[in-house]
Amino acid sequence: MELPFAEPYKIKMVEQIRKSTKDERIQWIKEATYNLFKLSSDKVFIDLLTDSGTGAMSDKQWSEMMLGDESYAGASSFFKMKNTIKELLGFDYVLPTHQGRAAENVLFSVLVKNGDLIPGNSHFDTTKGHIEFRHAKAVDCTIDEAFNPTLIHPFKGNIDLNKLQNVFENNPIEKIPMVIITITCNTSGGQPVSMQNIREVSELCKKYGVKVIVDSARFAENAYFIKVREKGYENKTIREIVAEMFSYADGMTMSSKKDAIVNMGGFIGLRDKEIYRQASTFNIIYEGYITYGGLSGRDMNALAQGLREGTEFEYLESRIGQIEYLGKKLLDHGVPILEPVGGHAIFIDSKRFLPHIPQSEFPAQILGVELFIEGGVRGTEIGTLLADRDPVTRENRYPKLELLRLAIPRRVYSRNHMDYIAASIINVYERRNEIKRGLKINWEAPIMRHFTVELERL
Ligand code: F0G
Repeated sequence: MELPFAEPYKIKMVEQIRKSTKDERIQWIKEATYNLFKLSSDKVFIDLLTDSGTGAMSDKQWSEMMLGDESYAGASSFFKMKNTIKELLGFDYVLPTHQGRAAENVLFSVLVKNGDLIPGNSHFDTTKGHIEFRHAKAVDCTIDEAFNPTLIHPFKGNIDLNKLQNVFENNPIEKIPMVIITITCNTSGGQPVSMQNIREVSELCKKYGVKVIVDSARFAENAYFIKVREKGYENKTIREIVAEMFSYADGMTMSSKKDAIVNMGGFIGLRDKEIYRQASTFNIIYEGYITYGGLSGRDMNALAQGLREGTEFEYLESRIGQIEYLGKKLLDHGVPILEPVGGHAIFIDSKRFLPHIPQSEFPAQILGVELFIEGGVRGTEIGTLLADRDPVTRENRYPKLELLRLAIPRRVYSRNHMDYIAASIINVYERRNEIKRGLKINWEAPIMRHFTVELERL
C-alpha cells in the first residue's frame, strides 16, 4: 500500500478551542452586528480570518526566544537575523520593522513621491494605502487571466509585460521609481508569479532604469509553486529558487508574520547602501533603532529560525497540500471557488455561490455570516465591503470578484479540521437557496469600513 500523506511534525503543546451551539452563534453574530472582525476569538471554533501572525512556532523557534539578546544597539539577535537574510535571500542591507506595512512605510518614505506611479501585480491593501497616502498611484498590471475565477493558469500572479511597458512608455519615467512584485499575489487569490515573469519584469525595469521591489510576505510559497509548476525548476531546492527570485530584485519588504512563521515582525532587504542610509533615518523615527526596529531580540531570533523552516520543501508541501486538499473536497462537491487554489487560502466565489443576492447586499459577507453560524468557522470578506466607497461619488465600488477568503494558519490545524471546514461549507452550499437576502449597513466609518462596519440582515 502506498503510504498516505501525514504532517511532518508532531504536537508538543495544545490550545483548547471550544465548540458552541448554532443558537449561541446566531446570537453572537447578531451582537457582533454581522461583522466577523467584531467576534471575540473565543467564540470562533476554527479561525481562518488570516494566515498572518497566526502560525505555530516550532520548538526550535521557542528555544531561540530564550536566547534573544535584548541589547538596544548591536544585539547578536539582529546579526543572526541579518546573516540569515543575507544567506537565504541575498540582501546586504537589512532593517527590522514591527510588521510588513511598517517596512512599506519606511521604504516608501524614501522611494515614493507625490505624483509617482507604482506599477505592480494587484498591490496589497496596505501597500496601496502607503502609496496613495503619498499622493502617488498604484497601477495594476496583473495578467487578465487573474480576473477569471475558473480559468486554470499556473501563474495567475504574473505581471503583463505589455501593460507594464505601456505604463513606462506613456508616462515620464522619472515618475516611476519602482515596480512592486507581490509574491504570492494575495489580492488575486494567493496566486504565484513565475521565475520567467520575475526575470522578464526585472529585465524590462533595468532597461528603463526602474527599481524592482518584491513584496515578499509569501515568498517561500511562491518558490514552492515554481518548483512544482515551472519547467527547469523541478530538481532545484526551495532555497536555490528563493535565491534566484531575489537575485532579480533591488529590494524587498517583508511581513514575517507569514512565511517566516512568527506572530509579529517584518523587515526591509536592500542592495543599495544609499537607499539603506536614507531608510535608516525613517526606521529610527517610525520603528526603532536600526538594529531592532520595533522587534525584541527574541523576535529576531525566532524570525531567523522561521526563515529556515519556512524554506524547507517538506514543510511547504504539507502546508500547501493542506489547502489543495480542502480545495479538492470543495470542488468535488461543486462548491464554486477560485481556481487553481492559491498558496495560503481558499477563496469562495460568492457571485456563483449566491447568484440571487446582488452585490449591493454584500453576498460574500452574508456567506461568511452563514458559515460562522453553520460551524463556528470564521473567514473574511474580500468583496464590496472591503472595496469601500468611491472617495468622490461616495457610491459603493463593486469589485469584479466577490470573495470569502478562508486563510489557513501555518502548522495550526489538522486534516480533520480541513474535513470539518469542508463539511461546514458544503452544508451551507446545500441550503444556499434558503439564504434569500443579504445585509444592509447601519453604520460605517469614512474609510476602511470593513473593520468596524455595523450591519443588519435584510
Ligand atoms: N503584503 C502582503 C502581500 C500582505 O498579504 C500583507 C498582509 C502585507 C503586505 C502587510 O503585512 O500585516 O505584516 O503589516 N496581509 C494580511 C492578510 C493582513 O490577512 O492577508 P503586515
